[in-house]
Amino acid sequence: MSQSTGRVGYDELATLKLVALDGALEGRVTVTCATLADRLDASNQTASRRLQQLEDADLLEREMAGDGQRVAVTEAGERALQREYADYRRLFEGDADVELAGVVTSGMGEGRHYISLSGYMEQFRDRLGYEPFPGTLNVDLDDDSVRARARMDALDPVGIDGWEDDERTYGPAFCWPATVETVDGRRYEEAHVIAPERTHHGEDQLEIIAPDKLREELGLEDDDHVTIHVSEQ
Ligand code: CDP
Repeated sequence: MSQSTGRVGYDELATLKLVALDGALEGRVTVTCATLADRLDASNQTASRRLQQLEDADLLEREMAGDGQRVAVTEAGERALQREYADYRRLFEGDADVELAGVVTSGMGEGRHYISLSGYMEQFRDRLGYEPFPGTLNVDLDDDSVRARARMDALDPVGIDGWEDDERTYGPAFCWPATVETVDGRRYEEAHVIAPERTHHGEDQLEIIAPDKLREELGLEDDDHVTIHVSEQ
């Protein structure tokens, strides 16, 4: 059997799924090797070894408790499960697109500075096929979308490399193709969500780049509701 999803095999992933179903995505839950072994149809040692392997791969946090082990799925663990979920959505829904909703907000004017830097601009031109309007449209995600955002990480992004000039280094970024839709159904299809790295829990802002100024193209003002359809490259 092929044995790879990240640094663990499918047997470990199945174990991770079981503890997630017990609530280990939301916080720590207590598991015992005996009950886990039973549900995995494996021996106690096997169950114990799988938990150990998940911990070694940073997919699970563990601490021993008197009556068993307290375990919680890590962010990397959640990403591994999200990748599986994305595969099933591709299988049964045709794609793994993610829909996020929120309201337009103003940032602190930093987007303009970063997007304009030549080290990024050249890559945007090559890899996204356009020169973005200098800035990012910020969207404050609603609570459901803050959680759903983790699904975006299971989609294949366009990678933007880090680079450096004489003074400092600039980090890499990920770009996901995105369509921005207003409440009255106007759509802008050529945008990208841009993020400096993988999502962390509770991250509630989304930044969007596009060839045009979206506020003008879509008539957007602060507090206007938008839906962002995120897909793969
Ligand atoms: O000040 P803030 O950080 O929100 O924005 P910025 O990144 O400096 O971008 C300048 C302005 O253009 C802001 O009002 C953004 O919301 C807007 N913008 C836009 O409408 N469409 C884009 N593709 C990028 C930025």
